[in-house]
Amino acid sequence: EKKHKVTIVGSGNWGSTIAKIVAENTKQHNDIFEEQVQMWVFEEDVVIGSDSKHYNAAIGDKPQKLTSIINSKHENVKYLPGITLPSNIIANPSLADAVKGSSILIFNLPHQFIANVCKQVRGHILPFARGISCIKGVNVTDDGVSLFSEWIGDGLNIYCGALSGANIASEIAAEKWSETTVAYDPPPMDNSRNPSPRSGSPNPGITVTDLQDLSHRDCRGRASKTKLTALPAEYPPLDHDCFRTLFHRHYFHVQMVSDVAGVSLGGALKNIVALAAGFVDGRGWGDNAKAAIMRIGLMEMVKFGKEFFGETVQSQTFTETSAGVADLITSSSGGRNFRCARKAVEQGISVEEVEKKELNGQKLQGTTTAFEVNSFLKARGLEKDYPLFTAVNDILLGKKDVDDIPNLVATVTDGA
Ligand code: NAD
Ligand code: 13P
Repeated sequence: EKKHKVTIVGSGNWGSTIAKIVAENTKQHNDIFEEQVQMWVFEEDVVIGSDSKHYNAAIGDKPQKLTSIINSKHENVKYLPGITLPSNIIANPSLADAVKGSSILIFNLPHQFIANVCKQVRGHILPFARGISCIKGVNVTDDGVSLFSEWIGDGLNIYCGALSGANIASEIAAEKWSETTVAYDPPPMDNSRNPSPRSGSPNPGITVTDLQDLSHRDCRGRASKTKLTALPAEYPPLDHDCFRTLFHRHYFHVQMVSDVAGVSLGGALKNIVALAAGFVDGRGWGDNAKAAIMRIGLMEMVKFGKEFFGETVQSQTFTETSAGVADLITSSSGGRNFRCARKAVEQGISVEEVEKKELNGQKLQGTTTAFEVNSFLKARGLEKDYPLFTAVNDILLGKKDVDDIPNLVATVTDGA
């Protein structure tokens, strides 16, 4: 039997943390996976700072390539300083080379960079590769809104699931316990040894040997345009068991589900709510106000999912999984979007200014997601139906003030 080779596309704060988890598991389960894990790194020259285990005042601020630091010191000194990475992670500055021969591709980078990355990856991957998107964001175009898992899948002609949860990277990198949710629901061909729970599948009972170009349904229940290539029979099946084995650690507990839309939307939309939580916290309004923001935010998340992905999305994904309410709570308590929004209000400057000053190259997803979701809602005349999402957009643009929030969401709080 062949083994699965794994590539992580991305190496930021979360990308490096997921690479650590995956590399620990490929080493432990080397009967299923090749031990070496490729990690594509957006190459840059960095100076090793005092938060790194390898800081050396005598060397001073001599810049070095990030890939060579990761490969020699086993630490991502810029995006995950202070954490030792397993030595079976290979940092690779070439995208085409990093994805070559991998049957599992894990996309983990800020959503604003994924389009360019996918363009470079096209034509270099195995046709039967499968993906998991750890990206928290949605793709908004003139035609509408789509999930990055589907957008990646369609662009690369592969099936792509999603991983999302209450997962602040620094805590998980330090091996503090948390949960996550992995949504994976390919057509039955990959799951012949572990049937997918999706009901009404168009291809029931088909086995791995029949498997070329089978049609499947997308997250809106429509026939997908993507023509999948079968996983050759000599590979271990890429099913729920395989992905649980790849991601589960004693400190990172995985729940496998089939609701790709719910998991992806939970991770994207909570970033808008976390900004609002930061705004009211920065204003000094306390925990009651923050809880109100989370309650209203959760309602808007569920409404958005039902309105635009109603054919497949399940409300319980928002209310019962780590990718839903748990991520909303953790992100509104200590996430970067929350912290930057709070500081922006405290200091009377924009969230973008705080991001540039404080995050050392890490990227917020909430600001762009708030603008993208707003442009989608506005084009459909639906801004008023999502008063909190709209308020966050308007506050970021300076059109409204944090003090306006109670009135702006009054239709939800008191039915006015
Ligand atoms: P990050 O915020 O650390 O972003 C920096 C990354 O972007 C670096 O790897 C940098 O090299 C890369 N980059 C910069 N310019 C680039 C360019 N032009 N092209 C390509 N890459 C470029 O990233 P992250 O924290 O790993 O976030 C990735 C995704 O994971 C996001 O969608 C985020 O919402 C999600 N997420 C983050 C966390 C967290 O705690 N950090 C937790 C869960 C999910
Ligand atoms: P931030 O990007 O706001 O830090 O959120 C991290 C996250 O997604 C935690 O689950």
